[in-house]
Amino acid sequence: MGNRLIGYGSYLPSRIMTNQDFERIMDTTDEWITTRTGIRERRFARDDESVFDMATIAATRALENANLTIDDIDLVIVSSVTAELDFPSVAVQVMGRLGAKNNAPAFDVRGACTGYIYGLHCARAFFAAGIHRRIMIIGAEKMTRFIDMTDRSTAVLFGDGAGALIFEHSSSSYSGIIDTVIMSDGGEYECLHGTPDSKIVMNGPETYKKAVQCMPDAARYIMEHAGITAENVDWIIPHQANLRIINSCAERLSFPMDKILVTVDRHANTSSASGVLALAYAFDNGMIKPGQLVLYPAFGSGLTWGAALIRV
Ligand SMILES: CC(C)(COP(=O)(O)OP(=O)(O)OC[C@H]1O[C@@H](n2cnc3c(N)ncnc32)[C@H](O)[C@@H]1OP(=O)(O)O)[C@@H](O)C(=O)NCCC(=O)NCCS
Repeated sequence: MGNRLIGYGSYLPSRIMTNQDFERIMDTTDEWITTRTGIRERRFARDDESVFDMATIAATRALENANLTIDDIDLVIVSSVTAELDFPSVAVQVMGRLGAKNNAPAFDVRGACTGYIYGLHCARAFFAAGIHRRIMIIGAEKMTRFIDMTDRSTAVLFGDGAGALIFEHSSSSYSGIIDTVIMSDGGEYECLHGTPDSKIVMNGPETYKKAVQCMPDAARYIMEHAGITAENVDWIIPHQANLRIINSCAERLSFPMDKILVTVDRHANTSSASGVLALAYAFDNGMIKPGQLVLYPAFGSGLTWGAALIRV
């Protein structure tokens, strides 16, 4: 049993934080940030704006886009590692805020920047098993909750936002989420992690080395498994952490840069929301056309990594 994409939605907080804004509050420069990361600006949520608020807006927009109500969805999966409440899940809170009456299940996955791929992997398995008809997967992150403004090497890298996709079961097995692979290596935990007092700790160079190895590996695995080559793929949406990482992955995979969707310059790293925010941006700007094949590799804290192949 296959599936197809029937709706998308996204949300970015209105406050734009530019590199120049960082220059005013810490010892950094626009030149350092753009040359090392490709990031020019990012969105910062308001203090009173939660992961749950952002997830709910993205979900509402995806439902509007699909012309559905929440009661038409029979599973909601939210990917987030920055939710303010440990329980209940963000997913059930979104269901509650949207007034769901259908008692459909809802749960969160925590795969850090790879979290959205973890959500897609669950959705693919549920469709394959014929268990659910319509699944909404939301990636929502408030990375500013974890930003340590005294650490210039991490503070400039992250932003906030949320995105949602809705998939519906379909008799074609070659549409929607075609394939996924997810992996982890807890032995590399120290590369990048949060602390109990909500700070980000990162070994930048080590994380960089792992990212440029793991994302191409996952992308290659998916292409081999699906029996396709780089020529068959219309767009790559890599996890948006750093332009240098994206360029290096493209080079290792022999993908031309005009097939690589880049939004890290405007969104920075929004963890598990990054790929879905990039996809929504591409739809909104007419870049990606329905029917095109999208490869989405990701990498993050854990370490976790993986990739998804989606026909949009
Ligand atoms: C963080 C990262 C951009 C640093 O780049 P880099 O090329 O390793 O850094 P460089 O070696 O060129 O520079 C390090 C120097 O810049 C300084 N520096 C760090 N952040 C800075 C900033 N925002 N502004 C100015 N200088 C900064 C450091 O203090 C260090 O100075 P020192 O040599 O005097 O100690 C890079 O390691 C990286 O992208 N890592 C992966 C991060 C990531 O994407 N994580 C998320 C994965 S999901």
